[in-house]
Parts: sequence; structure tokens; C-alpha cells
Amino acid sequence: MRGTSPPPPRSAIAHLPSYVPGTPAAPREGRPGYKLSSNESPFALPEQMVEAMAAACGEANRYPPSGRELALRLATRYGLPAEEVAVAGGSLELLRDLLLAYGGPGAEVVYGWRSYEAYPILAGSCGARPVPVPLVDQRIDLAALARAVSADTRVVLLADPNNPTGTALAPDEVAAFARQLPATCLLVLDQAYCEFGEPEADGLALELRSELGNLVVMRTFSKAFALAGMRVGWCTAHPDVVASLEAVAIPFTLTAPAQAGAIAALELEGELRRRAQVLVAERQRLTTGLHQLGLEVPPSHANFVWLPLGEGSSGFAAACSQAGVSVRCFAGEGVRVTVGLREENQAVLEAAAAYVRGAIPG
Ligand SMILES: Cc1ncc(COP(=O)(O)O)c(C=O)c1O
Repeated sequence: MRGTSPPPPRSAIAHLPSYVPGTPAAPREGRPGYKLSSNESPFALPEQMVEAMAAACGEANRYPPSGRELALRLATRYGLPAEEVAVAGGSLELLRDLLLAYGGPGAEVVYGWRSYEAYPILAGSCGARPVPVPLVDQRIDLAALARAVSADTRVVLLADPNNPTGTALAPDEVAAFARQLPATCLLVLDQAYCEFGEPEADGLALELRSELGNLVVMRTFSKAFALAGMRVGWCTAHPDVVASLEAVAIPFTLTAPAQAGAIAALELEGELRRRAQVLVAERQRLTTGLHQLGLEVPPSHANFVWLPLGEGSSGFAAACSQAGVSVRCFAGEGVRVTVGLREENQAVLEAAAAYVRGAIPG
């Protein structure tokens, strides 16, 4: 190491878990590796989206325009008042800004666990105390979550469908949970995967939002809308919450190509939703195939499936890796496999069969 030592960071930072991005897969026998570790869209982008983004790159000498145009398009599309929509460079960024604005030092942030791995990192880095509440049967336990809410709780994070288990909550359970939360506590309903779940959940969340001032419904363009690499997220919330987000936001993180890509995606929404349904059908095929091999897979409402293999997780991931497929392994807990194109899912089923046969040591 060169030079003198730097000062230490805040003590909370030293103990943060690190975010582990999904790894790429190595090519195998003349075909590319299959990356099923990051819940991305597997389809080639529609030409219209690529062209819209490419055209916006020509203006890259300028700072991006505000995200207003995209916010207005979203407001029109979902029938929301424009002042209740916020956009940013990814829903992760919105989440960080919400925690910065509402969950600083002294606050508790409650969430089911295991859930999206960014939750404890973002809560801790904003100085709040993360309060994880164990899942029951791979599902978020809303009763336990409600009991974990204390006078110090400022934010509850609820991923529905949950990542990595794929399980979803019934909309009436979510509504009952939301209505009993104290008004001093913000509920962030993170619906990153809602386009792969039950269609009613989408509209019901927005209806509930119009009733509850402490509810934030958060969505992303990274999954069904295929723009993970561009970073576009949005949320709808009470105008005061939107104003707080604007107060802490770093300007310009939503780039012009990202905004152009998202607007083009909204114009192609029918086609992108049709593609999501192709993945829903593939998810069913993959789940059935895994069940036939005797593996447990809880019903998924997202673009991935979860195998709670416990100590067998690393062996399963190794079998996938040997088959040229990268998956997301949580050692000792389970493996999350993104639903891909048919041939990708077939490779997973073959790797799973090899794992079950014991061809790969656990
Ligand atoms: C539950 C959940 N929320 C939020 C995100 C972040 O999405 P974005 O790409 O919009 O930052 C993810 C990404 O995987 C996720 O799984």
C-alpha cells in the first residue's frame, strides 16, 4: 500500500455486508455462457429502444434533461397525479434516497430476511439500524414484521415478490399490513418484479397508495422493461415524499439515453409484457422440471426461481457452472436461478439432473 494511512470511515461502514453482483458464465462447447445470476431480461432489445438510446448519445456533451418527461409519461400511463411520481437512475437509487431522507442515524429499518441484499447495505450506510425479520416457509412473515416495528422504526422495506425466494403476498394481506403501520413509518413496497406476478397486484398497490400517505410503491425498468444496464427506476408516493426525494437526490443520474430508452420501452409496453409472459410460461416449465427431479421450489411470481437447498447449494451451483450456467448461490441457504430462454432453462434442468444423480459432489 502506498503513502500514509487514510482516516477510518464511520464505524457503521466498516461492518457493512458487501453487495455481490451476479457473475458471468464461461462459454461451453461452442456456445456462450448462460448468465442466470442477475434476473435480467434474456431477450435481444427491440430495435426501437436501441435507436432511441443511440440518438440520445449524440447529446452526451450536455448534462441530461430532468426526468420530468419520463415522470409525466408514467403519470399518464398509470393514471397518477404528476406530482406523485419520482424517477431516478435505478430503483436502488430511489431506495438509497428514501433511506437518506427518512431513515438516518437513530432510526430502525425493518425488512424480511432473506430479501434483496441491498437492503441492509443501504440502511446501514445511511446510519440506520437494520432490523431483519426471518422468513417463514420462504415467505415474508407480515405478522412478525408488524411486531418488529418499534417507536424508532422509520422505514419498512417490503419486496413483493420477494428476491431471492420469488414468493408473493396476497394483496389484501399487504393492504392490512400497510393500514396498521404507524403514520410515522414509511412503507416501501418494492415491486421490482410485479410484471411477472398476478396482474391485480399492480393496480391494487397503486390504489392503496392513493389511500395511504406513508406508502411508497417502487418499480424498475431493469426487469420486464429490459433496461438493467441503463439504470431507470421510479416510484409513486405522496407529493411530500416526492419533494423529500428531490431534496436529497444527486442531480443528473438519470441520463438522457436512459430516459429515451425508458420512454421507448413504454411505447413498446405491449411487446415487453408479452415477453414477460413468455418467461412466466418458461418459469412454470422450469419449476415443473425441477419438481420432477425431487427438488423443492416455492411458487415463484418473479423472473427467477429459488431452490432452498441448504448445504447442497454450493454443489448445485457447481453443477450449473460445469454446464456453463452462472446462478446466484447463497451458500448454506439456497440458489436463485433467473428464468432465461428455453435453451438456457434446459441447461439448468440438465445440470439439476446431474446434481441429483450425485455427479457433482455437494
Ligand atoms: C427487489 C429488488 N428491488 C430493487 C432492485 C434494484 O433494481 P434497479 O436495477 O432498478 O436498481 C432489485 C434488483 O435486482 C431487486 O431485486
